[in-house]
Amino acid sequence: MKHSGKFIVLEGPDGSGKTTQIGRIEAYLREQGADFISTREPGGVLVAEKIRSVILDVDHAMSGLTECLLYAAARREHLLQKVIPALEQGKIVICDRYVMSSLSYQGYGRELGEAVLDINKRAINVDGTEYWPDLNIYLDVTPEVGLQRIHAKDAGREINRLDLEKEDFHRKVREGYLRLSREYQESFATIDASQNEAEVFADIKRVLERLLFEGPQQEFS
Ligand SMILES: Nc1ncnc2c1ncn2[C@@H]1O[C@H](COP(=O)(O)OP(=O)(O)OP(=O)(O)O)[C@@H](O)[C@H]1O
Ligand SMILES: [Mg+2]
Repeated sequence: MKHSGKFIVLEGPDGSGKTTQIGRIEAYLREQGADFISTREPGGVLVAEKIRSVILDVDHAMSGLTECLLYAAARREHLLQKVIPALEQGKIVICDRYVMSSLSYQGYGRELGEAVLDINKRAINVDGTEYWPDLNIYLDVTPEVGLQRIHAKDAGREINRLDLEKEDFHRKVREGYLRLSREYQESFATIDASQNEAEVFADIKRVLERLLFEGPQQEFS
């Protein structure tokens, strides 16, 4: 079904600054008087938050495919219960992670490849429409920078099962994101997230303005 909202997703490795920048985006959209919601994956609705705690618990070893299916299950519920209703009301939806996270973490990081795309296409298909974001804002940092940030003492965030993966996993995740940014370039804006918070936000704001206030645009990068 067609909707008049805008679906904007923040993507990037752990510690790239997604949650931090969503805070700034919220403040900016509020200032503009925009009608928006902000949400996160996995989670955002009760059943998906429960799936999130199953996935991220450091004691829950599981196969890569199980992990992929759980993320996809959480994604679908969140999409059905929260994202689509907001889009249909014409709202801007700001979401912390979506399909590109699965393609990079499970597809590239866990090396599950195409299976992840197949599963996700099914998960985001509602009544024959696949719900892809209008824009993926990809915050690009090296694993060294990202992991150093989240392991810093004052990061105020629990270390989860995926953070504890070896460096090689995080490297594959980033390579995955970089490939995806080329493959899906019409919906990708790549931002250098090694800059300071204000500089990163200035870049994000430019892309947001293009999407929200200047009409259709072919490319964001
Ligand atoms: N541009 C920046 N420069 C330096 N530190 C930053 C920057 N952006 C965020 N940080 C800090 O890095 C840490 C991780 O940031 P944040 O939680 O926003 O990342 P994230 O992408 O949401 O990570 P995750 O995927 O693990 O949720 C926080 O302590 C935050 O204050
Ligand atoms: Mg975060």
